[in-house]
Amino acid sequence: MEEQQLELNPNSVNGLSESTVPLDDDAPVLSSYALAALNEFLAEQQSHSAADSDAGETEEVALVSEDWRLSQFWYSAETARTVAEEVLSLCDGVDSRVACIACPTLYAYLKKMDPNVSLQLLEYDKRFEQYGTDYTFYDYNHPEELPSELKHSYKVVVADPPYLSKECLEKVAETISFLIQPGESFLLLLTGEVQKERAAEILGLHPCGFRPQHTSKLGNEFRLFSNYDPGMRLGGWEK
Ligand SMILES: C[S@@+](CC[C@H](N)C(=O)[O-])C[C@H]1O[C@@H](n2cnc3c(N)ncnc32)[C@H](O)[C@@H]1O
Repeated sequence: MEEQQLELNPNSVNGLSESTVPLDDDAPVLSSYALAALNEFLAEQQSHSAADSDAGETEEVALVSEDWRLSQFWYSAETARTVAEEVLSLCDGVDSRVACIACPTLYAYLKKMDPNVSLQLLEYDKRFEQYGTDYTFYDYNHPEELPSELKHSYKVVVADPPYLSKECLEKVAETISFLIQPGESFLLLLTGEVQKERAAEILGLHPCGFRPQHTSKLGNEFRLFSNYDPGMRLGGWEK
């Protein structure tokens, strides 16, 4: 017997219709009752998958693929949302400027969660030029080679340096000093636990209880350090 194929009917919700049932004598024919049940089952499956992809669209943010040669490891959606919520609470509706140093995922979530927040992404990877004037090319090896209008302009600075070395942290710290505004300011650093002593020594930061997670499993434990006491947020402050 020839293999049977169901034709797709573009006018049907799920692509099946009675006319798709083969009519030759040897072929098994579905009763109209069975066909109705099958159609109902397929329609229900389709509505579930549509709902799933809608939910994905509102909760997840599309990112470019990771380039591990550039030490790119993107935050999990939950981590990106948690840090973005913290940054937005620091802005507290006031017209505060936020600088994201080498953390494009955070930039993308912030932009999605509050399109009105004033953001600058400093990044080495030029694929992020897609963010237009919000993007500034940045190489930590030249920590102050930045446009002068960025100088001392940011109330909130978040940094996630590409490497876990003292040299990299010192240079990123120079960039942070360049960017941060005088007076009240908030600094968040996401990096490996191994940088804990240096983060305290170089930048006066302390770890929070919250553990950043990534979409890929990393060998290093990551921490979030801050220059302020977040209270009950971010799992509290370890001082
Ligand atoms: C550890 S990842 C942090 C990304 C963050 N977890 C996220 O999801 O947005 C380090 C970042 O540093 C960037 N990077 C690589 N080389 C760099 C360089 N020479 N100067 C500045 N940033 C660099 C990478 O492109 C990457 O976005």
